[in-house]
Amino acid sequence: MSETAVGVVTALAQARRATQLYPPTHPSFAEAVEGLVTAVRAAAAAAPFTLNWHQGRLYHESAVLPDDLPGMAAMAEAFEARRIESMGLHAGFGETDALGLTEVLALKPGPDLDVDAELASRGVSNVSIQFLADDDEEREERDRKREADRGMYNQLISMLRAAQAQMARGGTADLGHASGVVAGIAGRLGEDQAAILAMATMRAKTEADLFHSTNVMIYALTLGTSLGLPDEGLTSLGLSALLHDIGKSAFDTADEHQAQAIKLMHPSVGAQILGRLPGEDKASMLVAYEHHMGMDGSGYPERPADYIPHPYSRMIAIADRYENLTKPDPFGVAQTPDRAVVQILREARGPLDALFTRLFVKAIGVFPVGCLVRLSDMRVAVVAGHGNDALLPKVRVIYDENGIELEEPVELLPDEAQVTIIEVIDPDALAL
Ligand SMILES: [Fe+2]
Ligand SMILES: [Fe+2]
Repeated sequence: MSETAVGVVTALAQARRATQLYPPTHPSFAEAVEGLVTAVRAAAAAAPFTLNWHQGRLYHESAVLPDDLPGMAAMAEAFEARRIESMGLHAGFGETDALGLTEVLALKPGPDLDVDAELASRGVSNVSIQFLADDDEEREERDRKREADRGMYNQLISMLRAAQAQMARGGTADLGHASGVVAGIAGRLGEDQAAILAMATMRAKTEADLFHSTNVMIYALTLGTSLGLPDEGLTSLGLSALLHDIGKSAFDTADEHQAQAIKLMHPSVGAQILGRLPGEDKASMLVAYEHHMGMDGSGYPERPADYIPHPYSRMIAIADRYENLTKPDPFGVAQTPDRAVVQILREARGPLDALFTRLFVKAIGVFPVGCLVRLSDMRVAVVAGHGNDALLPKVRVIYDENGIELEEPVELLPDEAQVTIIEVIDPDALAL
């Protein structure tokens, strides 16, 4: 890929950032605009310079631009959100064009945004833009897939309901069909992790245990996928997660007096129930028995000192803990994902498997880049990149402790600055 293309994209991203962050009187502002003009003039000297957006990636001619260019994610987002298919920059490109273009790329995207009109009103004349045709088909396809995902989820809920009833009556259940659905969800995780993970937040007041089990399965599969388990292993892991609390179905969960007994007994009762299932795979039985034991033996049932739970039990224990932390308590209060992550990382020194917990956190992410956080000294920052510690990513401080916007954002590594991230903030609350 050509140096000039990299130069233009980098300059464009820098100019966009600078015009958002600095007032026009700031030297960095003028510098960034000038940088863009120079880069475009060099690139478009012989022929117009064109950037194309296709299926989630930016291209210059036929070369795809690397994802890790500085500002690339923001540029890709700017193209996609404004439905820009291609952007041509022409030889006469000057300061007015640079300023107008960066301003328009920073406007809030939406159905009312007319990019062409906005460019024209700013006197931009050396930029030509083509928009994506309305791709209803693509959107329909995505909707169809989401619909199918939800269908699979609901199928699992009803299969689980039937299996629970059967097993509680002392029978066995045929899980052949359930394995197929679990495999389907595992496959979709590979394609669209975000969509499947988003489903794991589904729950209902009634049959909360069925939703709990299905969500634990999604988290367990996410960890299993990141570990590179083969398909067969994923299915077995997913089924074991679905059935980990099956022992509870033998009890009357509405009876509060039984709560302690259910808590302590459901692992062994579950193992007994699952021991009746036909088939070679005994993972689900082991998981039911071991999922509350803890790596350090602090849980239950009791076990010999040198006993090590099955890897699936250790993985599902993490998924189970995370699900329990993020689901609302009886008062409707749930922990935010970042706090739940902090908590399970803490527990990784005790009951939870340390390595699997770290991999789990890596797979689901704590603070995605771009997320807004409050630091322990009350300043507000944007997550700017990942460091070695998932809890202390690199941040850019944009507001001081009184909520006043900084003229010059400060990049910092929280551990060096001896601050921590105390919460994730909703950008709408700050009207950014
Ligand atoms: Fe349990
Ligand atoms: Fe559970």
